Amino acid sequence: SNLQVAIDGPASAGKSTVAKKVAHLLDYVYCDTGAMYRAVTWAALQQKVPLDNDAALKELLTNLKIVFKPADDGQKVFVDGEDVTAAIRMPEISKNVSLVAAQISVREALTKKQQELALDGGIVMDGRDIGTTVLPDAEVKIFLVASVKERALRRFREDQAKGIKVDLSELEKEIALRDKKDSTRLISPLVQAKDAIKVDTTSLTIEQVVAKIMEIIKK
Ligand code: C5P
Repeated sequence: SNLQVAIDGPASAGKSTVAKKVAHLLDYVYCDTGAMYRAVTWAALQQKVPLDNDAALKELLTNLKIVFKPADDGQKVFVDGEDVTAAIRMPEISKNVSLVAAQISVREALTKKQQELALDGGIVMDGRDIGTTVLPDAEVKIFLVASVKERALRRFREDQAKGIKVDLSELEKEIALRDKKDSTRLISPLVQAKDAIKVDTTSLTIEQVVAKIMEIIKK
């Protein structure tokens, strides 16, 4: 059967790593909705669109072409033909993405795109509002959490491996602040869906989390 699998949770809880692996095991499509919000943020910064100007962002979105292409290490993201896969992970984007993601036009446009992608099922989608808003009828809903300290440490290691210079306490602050912005915004805030299963990954390996989710899916 072609299920919809929704994986939500706070920043750097391991959603994309785990979602990618689960999608691979099921031979499903993987969709990283955070990458879409990041791509819009990247384009807005590039084109100097004020990040809190809903009308201007709406205009930007009508002309913007965001394309995802499957790659060996997950997926590549293109904005109007430009490969922004690495650029959308930079601290400048992480710092500004929550503001863009709080604008109604942006949420409407991306939610619609995400729903279209998931129409036929066979998809693992990760984000903040997948189980609550994008795919309220998803057969499987997971809410991944981990302590802020652990999440900062994971990001620290990831960023270091990518050669991005970061400070652990700065990361911890950025993650906590982003969670606060994401969970207090008015439209589709970050919150666990009533029917989602919470998985605390703080002391689990990636493989253990994947196994847990596969078990939930097979039930
Ligand atoms: O998942 P990631 O950390 O890359 O997401 C970046 C940001 O995009 C989040 O902090 C949030 O502001 C926004 N986002 C969202 N809804 C989603 C996915 C991401 O608002 N479904």
